Amino acid sequence: MKRIALIVVLILLAVVAYKGPDSLIGLAKMSRSASSETDRLENILGQPEGKSGKKVLVAYFSWGGNTRSVAKLIHDKTGGDLFEIKKETAYPKEYKPTTDVGKMEREQDLRPKLAGPLPDLKQYDVILLGYPIWWYIEPMPVKTFVEAQDLSGKVILPFATSGGSDIIDSVNDLRKTLPKAQVKDGLLANMTGRIDNWLKENGL
Ligand SMILES: Cc1cc2nc3c(=O)[nH]c(=O)nc-3n(C[C@H](O)[C@H](O)[C@H](O)COP(=O)(O)O)c2cc1C
Repeated sequence: MKRIALIVVLILLAVVAYKGPDSLIGLAKMSRSASSETDRLENILGQPEGKSGKKVLVAYFSWGGNTRSVAKLIHDKTGGDLFEIKKETAYPKEYKPTTDVGKMEREQDLRPKLAGPLPDLKQYDVILLGYPIWWYIEPMPVKTFVEAQDLSGKVILPFATSGGSDIIDSVNDLRKTLPKAQVKDGLLANMTGRIDNWLKENGL
């Protein structure tokens, strides 16, 4: 039995090594499609004061719903405002066409237009920024979001879900994108067990 498990693991590693990250993505999302409108959370705006007394925004992008679930969990713990980052023209519902659009946006370093209006980010002390890892970093609509307003001096706490990739490349990318913001170490929240400690470490 152990030997079969070992063989399966070796085959998976060989596939990833041979085909690169897209195979990992494929394995992670094989038969998934975008979550339905009914899975969406209502935005909560206009009550920025969180449970810590700081003004908090949990802003997230999610295609399949994983990051949305984590964002909800985090928002339940922190309080404050909650906002879903959405593209003006939504990604397709199916996985493969979504990867085609996402890849093109990434390769061309595009900033896709977002559905508005966006919250006024000046009013927050802390922005918890959630996203799925797409080709090792944050999806391009997240870049549109963080570049749309001046985030100088703001504390940004990134959190992500993924099919296995780490969050570190996206944190480094956000630091490059927002050199004047304080982008803290991120939380890969595929397992939700570390959320409480991470929030505590960051004063929330
Ligand atoms: C376009 C696309 C690219 C992805 N790229 C990666 C990747 O580079 N590494 C990884 O581990 N997972 C990758 N994934 C898997 C997602 O990060 C993972 O399933 C995540 O939990 C999805 O979050 P969501 O349900 O909030 O959209 C990718 C998924 C898609 C759709």
